[in-house]
Amino acid sequence: MSAVDNGHPVLLLDNLHKVYNPGSQLQVHVLKGVSLAVERGDYVAIMGHSGSGKSTMLNILGCLDVPTGGTYMIDGVDVSSLSEGQLADIRNQYLGFVFQSFNLVRRTTALANVELPLVYAGVPRAERRRRALTALGLVGLEDRSHHQPSELSGGQQQRVAIARAICTGPSIILADEPTGNLDSRSTEEVMQIFGRLNAAGRTVVIITHEDDVSAHAKRVVILEDGRIGNDYRNAPVQGDPPGLIDLAALEPEEISIAEEESAEVIVP
Ligand SMILES: Nc1ncnc2c1ncn2[C@@H]1O[C@H](COP(=O)(O)OP(=O)(O)OP(=O)(O)O)[C@@H](O)[C@H]1O
Ligand SMILES: [Mg+2]
Repeated sequence: MSAVDNGHPVLLLDNLHKVYNPGSQLQVHVLKGVSLAVERGDYVAIMGHSGSGKSTMLNILGCLDVPTGGTYMIDGVDVSSLSEGQLADIRNQYLGFVFQSFNLVRRTTALANVELPLVYAGVPRAERRRRALTALGLVGLEDRSHHQPSELSGGQQQRVAIARAICTGPSIILADEPTGNLDSRSTEEVMQIFGRLNAAGRTVVIITHEDDVSAHAKRVVILEDGRIGNDYRNAPVQGDPPGLIDLAALEPEEISIAEEESAEVIVP
């Protein structure tokens, strides 16, 4: 699978179905024919009522779960044709996952948390450290690298989780309500980081219940009872996402604050 543009949508769902516990009394038909093409460099917010199937869909996009019907293709490759080993490679190299509850390892430093996917990827120790520190720098937390999760605020923990998701250099970032546990200021910081990741060329798909969050996306897809009910665009695929603070346009004193609190512009 190549990271170069080969004309395929980067993510393609075709008539996707998901049935939990098929054939049993606990059977639930969650996704009822979802078709969605996501272009490289797009920034999609998935919204919809609780139980509408958002997490189910994102878990399938992240190769954490498999559909019961329909097709899912990444970069034109049918995911169902891949072996477990190939899927693990895709999860590790192409996809970065961020969760609502951060999912950091307790009593372990931010640096070690960020290094974890690089350990799985077999990256040598010194290189691991270098990449993890770079990722922590990109989320504005180089000075917190030796803090454990319990010594960090919720917003900082989520920024560590984002650093962990991006340290392998994935071209696709998937996030399930990443600001669901954050206050409005931390939410904005985290959204600026996602915005810069997207401006640097990464494809971002984010689940949210908040209009303030979806306003940062270029496209909004609304799930209604397992189907796409609405799908509209805030901004074109190419170019910066809406709401991105242009660091170059800030006054010098504002820049120092912005740099201190978040990250420098990220090169893909
Ligand atoms: N592992 C599972 N086994 C059985 N049913 C499940 C499973 N996971 C989810 N469901 C059911 O599937 C439906 C959709 O769940 P999902 O988590 O995708 O919703 P969601 O849109 O993410 O909701 P929320 O906004 O509350 O996070 C729900 O009715 C849920 O109970
Ligand atoms: Mg959910």
